[in-house]
Amino acid sequence: MKIKTKLVHRAVLMSLIAAAAAAQAQTAKPTVPAAPVQAAETPAQRDARMAWWREARFGMFIHWGLYAVPGGEWNGRKDLAEWFMDETGIARADYEKFAAQFNPTKYDPDEWVRIAKDAGMKYIVITSKHHEGFAMWDTKGTDYNIAKRTPYGKGVLKPLAEAARRAGLHFGTYYSIMDWHDPSQSPSQPGKHYNPTKMDPAKKRAYIEEMKTELAELVRETHTEVLWFDGEWMDWWTNEDGRELYTFLRKLDPNLIINNRVGNSRAGSLAGMDKGEGVGDFGTPEQNIPARGFGPGVYWETCMTLNDHWGYNKYDDHWKSTEVVVRNLVDIASKGGNYLLNVGPEASGVIPAPAVARLRDIGGWLKVNGESIYGTGPTPFAGDHGGYSTSEKNDDGKPKWIPKWDWRATSKKGKVYVHLFEWPDKTFHVDAGDVQAKSAYLLADAKHAPLKFTQNGKTLDVQLPEKALDPIDTVLVIETKD
Ligand code: GLC
Repeated sequence: MKIKTKLVHRAVLMSLIAAAAAAQAQTAKPTVPAAPVQAAETPAQRDARMAWWREARFGMFIHWGLYAVPGGEWNGRKDLAEWFMDETGIARADYEKFAAQFNPTKYDPDEWVRIAKDAGMKYIVITSKHHEGFAMWDTKGTDYNIAKRTPYGKGVLKPLAEAARRAGLHFGTYYSIMDWHDPSQSPSQPGKHYNPTKMDPAKKRAYIEEMKTELAELVRETHTEVLWFDGEWMDWWTNEDGRELYTFLRKLDPNLIINNRVGNSRAGSLAGMDKGEGVGDFGTPEQNIPARGFGPGVYWETCMTLNDHWGYNKYDDHWKSTEVVVRNLVDIASKGGNYLLNVGPEASGVIPAPAVARLRDIGGWLKVNGESIYGTGPTPFAGDHGGYSTSEKNDDGKPKWIPKWDWRATSKKGKVYVHLFEWPDKTFHVDAGDVQAKSAYLLADAKHAPLKFTQNGKTLDVQLPEKALDPIDTVLVIETKD
């Protein structure tokens, strides 16, 4: 099953992260020379370029394309979404017919941005072209695009970029290297739409030039700030190719932020980007949260669906609870990562109501506690919150990390935020390491009433009121002496 194969690729990648983090500790030699542009940038310059993204912590992923027209259903199947073409084996000409039905008259970019902003999200990344090869803007790279092939007759990206900026959010675009519609990607067998192993060199060069045309438009017309590549795991796509696109794009816009999937997920590790390993600016664990962070200067973002599908599936009502999403966000931030949470709009341009309601609830928690997430760094405390399963395995066969939802911590200069998922009986007790407490209070207590605490050397005990202020996560603020 292709997805399974791909998931294994991703899972292998995650194990590479862990291996690279360990290897990095021994200052491993770069396995892949850095892209020229990447190598020319100092770590401090790169940290400055990544600053808004690092401080944002939480973004909205949007998967929207022709696959929203069937909405996950086809010939009795109800489990489909953005992999519709591959999973059904539908003929290209028959899939193209969905374009004539794609007319998102209810699309309101300002409404989408309001939903993201109310959720506490600071940036949006939308699919400009997914594996189906259908461009969501009027590109010169292919006439297989929303302006030329649909009754809607115009692009949807620039209006969203402008709406995002009006609301103070950042805007990014997802772009798939794999393109099931492009003639260069002849199917390896009937009913399949891409060849995972080989591509004619002349067709590949032509396709790379087409990608550059399309990518340059995204930079110049939407002023995209993040290029979120995907569909890079085929044998015919290499880190060399990724470095060519990376350098091309960063020359177009030196401030652009590009994910690691511009390179080839098999060839390079995701951690240690600034050591020249892999290509790109941040790692992209998918549908999972790494066991621990990767240390300073290594950027990463977990992307995750809100239900079980990236693209719209009319039957999928398996929405993650507000508790799960908030605690995932906290867990990720406590390890120094970002959380890109996905919605799959309907073909009409409407984001499903249950998704909107869930995002509003998440925003409610962030309205009170956002200070403990935005602009924070990882926990200053040692120790893991969880352990590896002795029975469950990941897709790569490695033991699955099982998180323990007791508490986490995030940090800023002069403050440590202890996120209490379980409410301790009277006292929060921790081996505080180098943290020297000066005062303590609960973030959700409008009065910030001081809490009693004792610290003997490395042991810190904070006296807590009987009841938590928030059933999902009550944040204890420890002001520190640094
Ligand atoms: C998976 C899905 C792909 C989706 C991506 C987002 O790879 O197969 O469709 O765009 O995740 O990270």
